Amino acid sequence: MKDYSVKLSILKTLSQGGFHSGEELGDKLGISRAAISKHIKGIQGWGVDVFSVQGKGYQLAKPIQLLNQDVLQNNLANNVELIPIIDSTNQYLLDRIDSLESGSVCLAEYQAKGRGRRGREWVSPFGSNLYLSMFWRLDAGIAAALGLSLVVGVAIVEALEDMGLTSVKLKWPNDLYYQDKKLAGILVEMSGQAGAAANIVIGIGLNLMMSEATQGITQPWASLFEVAKNQEIDRNQLAITMITTLHRTLDEYERYGMSGFVEKWNRLDNFINRPVTLLIGSKEITGIARGINEQGAVLLETENGLESYIGGEISLRFRQ
Ligand code: ATP
Ligand code: BTN
Repeated sequence: MKDYSVKLSILKTLSQGGFHSGEELGDKLGISRAAISKHIKGIQGWGVDVFSVQGKGYQLAKPIQLLNQDVLQNNLANNVELIPIIDSTNQYLLDRIDSLESGSVCLAEYQAKGRGRRGREWVSPFGSNLYLSMFWRLDAGIAAALGLSLVVGVAIVEALEDMGLTSVKLKWPNDLYYQDKKLAGILVEMSGQAGAAANIVIGIGLNLMMSEATQGITQPWASLFEVAKNQEIDRNQLAITMITTLHRTLDEYERYGMSGFVEKWNRLDNFINRPVTLLIGSKEITGIARGINEQGAVLLETENGLESYIGGEISLRFRQ
């Protein structure tokens, strides 16, 4: 693994606030001012807004609260690994499935290859959002994994409500929405054979305070700080709440499946009773969204009556 310790030390100093000169940073790390300037460029490439003022040095445009391995581990029973710079937290766990305990968690500050469904990109700038994944061995097997992203989505929205962060909704099958903009995505990936236990990795990307200048997102998006208005959000505490919620939800899902789940989903469905289009490969089906059924299929009122659709190849789009 590449050594990012110099860049991470610079970020730790900058995250304390105020200006820090190239000379001060260089002395601290035993490298030249020119080397610091090069590292700052690399840090900017991770999506961190660092600016410099002649005679004063470098400063973060917005404060960053870094994640802390000790704080996370001391507050969680799960095995937690914070790897600040990573390709993808989902991929990291998928690569280690044979040696992991169920419930193991990986978090990152920056993902170079964060991904969404069907290989789409998940934009993951440093320090401004949450990127976390949990490994789970699901004895019931792959078939039982289908409803997971729905169940996890509801549990996370409910946990946010408990924190006073209301008006967050869900878009079938795996997105959290706020005011018709994408706030978070859930990605469930797995390996395993039919009939055997499924090895599942559940990844969550939740925007907290992403900069408006973020490139590469092709649809409207939101950050949790908009939802929070003036309420302060502690990133470590939020990560702990997300992980605890995820663990409890997986435990309950193994025991009770999706019973009693439809009402919970429908209360939070962002598109219920609104006109939508379902994209299934090159096919488009239009209708009015009517929530989900007990199998977790999306329900659509079309010219032909109430129809249900399920499967990983389906995308739902709002129709104005
Ligand atoms: P679907 O309905 O098929 O899930 P989707 O457009 O939401 O559609 P996903 O694969 O779920 O697609 O998510 C990836 C998409 O999310 C990307 O194509 C991009 O437009 C958007 N995206 C990427 N990063 C972020 C982010 N940090 N916040 C919000 N949206 C993002
Ligand atoms: C989606 O909306 O399609 C799902 C996005 C999931 C993003 C998270 S961030 C943590 C984990 N690691 C990844 O590479 N993806 C998921």
